[in-house]
Amino acid sequence: MARILITSAIPYINGIKHLGNLIGSQLPADLFARYQRGRGNEVMFLCATDEHGTPAELAAAKAGKPVAEYCAEMHEVQADIAKRFGLSFDHFGRSSSPQNHKLTQHFAGKLAEAGLIREVTEKQVYSNADGRFLPDRYIEGTCPNCGYEKARGDQCENCTKQLDPTDLIDPRSAISGSTDLEVRETKHLYLRQSAMKDQLDAWIDGKTDWPVLTTSIAKKWLHDGDGLQDRGITRDLDWGIPVKKGDEDWPGMEGKVFYVWFDAPIEYIACAKEWADAHGKSDAEWERWWRTDKGADDVRYVQFMGKDNVPFHTLSFPATILGSGEPWKLVDHLKSFNYLNYDGGQFSTSQGRGVFMDQALDILPADYWRWWLLSHAPESSDSEFTWENFQQSVNKDLADVLGNFVSRITKFCRSKFGEEVPSGGEYGEHEQALIEELTKRIRAYEAHMEAMEVRKSAQELRAIWVAGNEYLQAAAPWSSFKEDPEQAAVQVRLGLNLIRLYAVLSAPFIPETSARMLSAMNTLDTSWPEDVEAALNALPAGHAFTVPDVLFAKITDEQREDWQTHFAGVRS
Ligand code: 2FM
Ligand code: ZN
Repeated sequence: MARILITSAIPYINGIKHLGNLIGSQLPADLFARYQRGRGNEVMFLCATDEHGTPAELAAAKAGKPVAEYCAEMHEVQADIAKRFGLSFDHFGRSSSPQNHKLTQHFAGKLAEAGLIREVTEKQVYSNADGRFLPDRYIEGTCPNCGYEKARGDQCENCTKQLDPTDLIDPRSAISGSTDLEVRETKHLYLRQSAMKDQLDAWIDGKTDWPVLTTSIAKKWLHDGDGLQDRGITRDLDWGIPVKKGDEDWPGMEGKVFYVWFDAPIEYIACAKEWADAHGKSDAEWERWWRTDKGADDVRYVQFMGKDNVPFHTLSFPATILGSGEPWKLVDHLKSFNYLNYDGGQFSTSQGRGVFMDQALDILPADYWRWWLLSHAPESSDSEFTWENFQQSVNKDLADVLGNFVSRITKFCRSKFGEEVPSGGEYGEHEQALIEELTKRIRAYEAHMEAMEVRKSAQELRAIWVAGNEYLQAAAPWSSFKEDPEQAAVQVRLGLNLIRLYAVLSAPFIPETSARMLSAMNTLDTSWPEDVEAALNALPAGHAFTVPDVLFAKITDEQREDWQTHFAGVRS
């Protein structure tokens, strides 16, 4: 049994995620986790909310809540939606957890001991009225480029020009509106990534099986311009993990916190400890996933993320791990995604454009969305959600191909043989031909799933469903029944066994439906079809079953038009 550690990029806490976020990391990670469990492997699948940084502070302020309270609430909201989407995390943690505080401070201490942190004195804007330093985006003023009056200190939203807070005309605090600002000196910590350039370079060179898309991003950061730059890992914010060296205070760093991108990936590790603590398990039980000196040397670690996250996962986080000098597990395979667009534009959280996870579940069950999103995953390029395409894919693949197959065979059996698997003789020539085709296709499906080729896996699964339909169409037990009921019985027995087989194979994509199929077939046997012929004999003659309710309802043109109109605007 292999051991597989899987992490999905941890979603920001500031609001409910849209379908583009979902297909960019959590959903394909879930597909892989479910598949690996289905194959009998031991899986640890972790995700969490990313709770620090200015976006969290700003969202809390907008909601009129203390930031800790806002994060606690939003974590529950996200956890609930994730569950309803069937995301099968072993633990859904929080980057603000005490475990992550401790571990982040621990890493900082180790990096300092190794001489990999330097202190830098910088000039930064201080607001006397607010009694704090202001991050760039907390300073507003008039854009020197276009005259827009609400430009932010990091960028003008109107003309997109990148700015420095000192460029702004009439700068003011975005918190209080005060113009009583001054430039003060302040100290920050930098991770000396430049000193680790060669080590990181050699590590990336060893990743010959990674997609070029991924390694080229890392190589660009390592070699372009002046090469890999040191990175600031502290911020002047109230909310975050206080800067400490392990358990000790860090002189000169009072009142400062770690930068959100420093502590977020460390939460991948802390999350495993949260899992252990939540289940009353010992440290050894999470460390066997993460420490190569404590059993993790035979773990395969796979990360899922959107393409914008690749630099942090190929450079900054490995720099933290390697720099610590401790035997933490490094990523083995990194699967990254392009963007999903929405109906001719982009999904946008800030503009409320597109379909958000809660809204999606309000109109249709999770499996409809899971199937469409996974079968259209933005792998080799960006992809686009349109309502027409969604309707077509649901109606054809799910309702016509899979749903119809299940309904036809179960109803036919009930009417002619009753609600139990009919007997009849051995499988004949046609059944053997189908078994042969299915064997080839299932082996191909396994190879695609193993390689995390999401779209190809979906195509192969669909072809497996189609093969069953074609068999049934050709065998036509409804005609053969008249002359040769024995033969019809054999065909129906195979059909009912196919339902169980489809449930097992399809579970990673459509887990809820798969569970309904198994329950209709009245079986707990979810064993993977290593041997297809044996799998198609799992339900013996005489085995009772029930006819399930319609698995997938077709989307009508009227529904599609309604949704199209409803989601055309922006979400407030
Ligand atoms: O891009 C994002 O949504 C980030 N919150 C991902 C963080 S992934 C990791 F490093 F923790
Ligand atoms: Zn401007």
